[in-house]
Amino acid sequence: MNRNSPLSPLPPCIGVFDSGVGGLTVLRELRRQLPSVPLRYIADTAYAPYGSHGSDYITERSLRLAGHLIAQGARLLVVACNTATAHAVGALRARWPELPIVGTEPGIKPAVAASRNGRIAVLATVATLASERYRDLLARHADGTQVLSQPCPGLVDLIEAGDLQSPSIDALIERFCAPLREAGVDTVLLGCTHYPLIQPRLQRALGEQVQLLNIETAVAQQSVRLWQALDLPTSEGANAPLHLATTGDAAALQRFVAEALGWTDLSVEALPDL
Ligand code: DGL
Repeated sequence: MNRNSPLSPLPPCIGVFDSGVGGLTVLRELRRQLPSVPLRYIADTAYAPYGSHGSDYITERSLRLAGHLIAQGARLLVVACNTATAHAVGALRARWPELPIVGTEPGIKPAVAASRNGRIAVLATVATLASERYRDLLARHADGTQVLSQPCPGLVDLIEAGDLQSPSIDALIERFCAPLREAGVDTVLLGCTHYPLIQPRLQRALGEQVQLLNIETAVAQQSVRLWQALDLPTSEGANAPLHLATTGDAAALQRFVAEALGWTDLSVEALPDL
């Protein structure tokens, strides 16, 4: 850790952030794979969605959230957001060169390997698909495969609104999935951590024959490897503390985690000034 970020005396934890509730899908998997490791999560709800913004905005927010998590004891950072990874993971690594950082990126390589007909699609935010990192991923791994990159503007906003059953979500899903059906893709990557929250409805719109691939499990596995390599002493039993915070409405996030994840016993900290 460099001199901008002296190690916090607080107990070590894994710091996780996303623009909002999407990263909770990664957090849930981290919790499952690392039940004895304290986790701190920030939903940057007041500044969401990231996907309709440019690099500078996303980088500035990411540096701010990461700085806060490090001050709170984070010894490993998980960027549970494809958009923030695409635009800011380089800046995060440059600012904290000794901090292990796990990013979240569309798994082009496994999707290419899983496709039987050589036609895949990526559902992601406008900003992720416009990024150099995404172009680079395609250049490195998609040779010979037809990739339909489908931006989904508006979908994160509706998921953030909290009603995962709303008909407006179905209308957008239909708009974004129709071109994928027409193109006959057999494999679809969920390239935004919000989308697993509506996965059954995406599956219904695409048809059961299409395989949907997520990235949370791989992100959590990589986090386990890096956490173990740090070899930090932990005094926690199986149920380490899980701390949630948001730059937006704390009560709304608390309701969301209770309804969507069944986590009913958690309080949420409000960080309006972050
Ligand atoms: N969960 C973020 C991602 O994975 C959503 C980005 C947004 O806020 O638009 O890309």
